[in-house]
Amino acid sequence: MPEAGCVVIVGGTAGIGRELAKHYAERGRDVVVTGRDADRAKAAAAEIGGRTVGMAFDLTRPEEVAGGLADVGPVDRLVLAAIERDENTVRDYDVVRAARLAILKLVGYTEVVHALEPRLRSDAAIVLFGGLAKDRPYVGSTTVTTVNGAVTTMVSALAVELAPIRVNAIHPGIVGDSPYWSAKPEGVLEAFRSRTPTGRLATMADVVDAVVFLLENRSVNGVNLRVDGGTLLG
Ligand SMILES: NC(=O)c1ccc[n+]([C@@H]2O[C@H](COP(=O)([O-])OP(=O)(O)OC[C@H]3O[C@@H](n4cnc5c(N)ncnc54)[C@H](OP(=O)(O)O)[C@@H]3O)[C@@H](O)[C@H]2O)c1
Repeated sequence: MPEAGCVVIVGGTAGIGRELAKHYAERGRDVVVTGRDADRAKAAAAEIGGRTVGMAFDLTRPEEVAGGLADVGPVDRLVLAAIERDENTVRDYDVVRAARLAILKLVGYTEVVHALEPRLRSDAAIVLFGGLAKDRPYVGSTTVTTVNGAVTTMVSALAVELAPIRVNAIHPGIVGDSPYWSAKPEGVLEAFRSRTPTGRLATMADVVDAVVFLLENRSVNGVNLRVDGGTLLG
């Protein structure tokens, strides 16, 4: 067996990305987690443990991404999980916030793939994070909905261009125990839970399990996978 490359998780300093980093670190893998701030990324890596290192760059400044990834070696698992949240209605449109989110996911995620492409092994796999707002808009989701919708087509284009490297996306519904949602006032989550057919919101562990499936199954490619308890049926 050739020696394994590393697992790179962009947006791995917090939330779901961080839980995924723990999964791979606990299995003895070399893991790279990234965020915007070098000290925070190093502290997160130390807390995750194992052979995890932290690096920093800002996806809203895509021209700085390649430099931020300069020290990364061969890669066989790459996850793009970073997000800057943008509650932005079309009636009260904040173009700066909208542009940041669009650049972060559409240009920033792609630039990470571009920068690491020479280091991706031929059996590597990539997972992009979208989100269920692509199918279930809410007031304020104009940019989130369109950006996550575009992630579905990025998957196809990247899978074609990078073959035999596999590229898939995950689209979580509301992840009840993620830092963003668990900080909401009491009662907010109940409305979402009550219309979820499974009677429970997705957890970070559920999402990690699904990302690992997308990364590790050698025949899953070009898939956009919803992990939402069947919310669209409710
Ligand atoms: N949580 C949910 O319920 C949910 C639902 C649907 C979809 N999703 C998707 O799942 C993914 C993970 O969400 P989450 O809730 O776990 O995220 P989170 O806890 O908010 O963590 C966001 C991560 O992105 C990094 N980040 C933020 N802005 C960045 C920037 N400009 N450049 C580079 N890195 C940046 C943060 O690093 P630092 O703070 O260290 O800089 C952190 O590691 C996201 O793509 C999100 O759209 C989540």
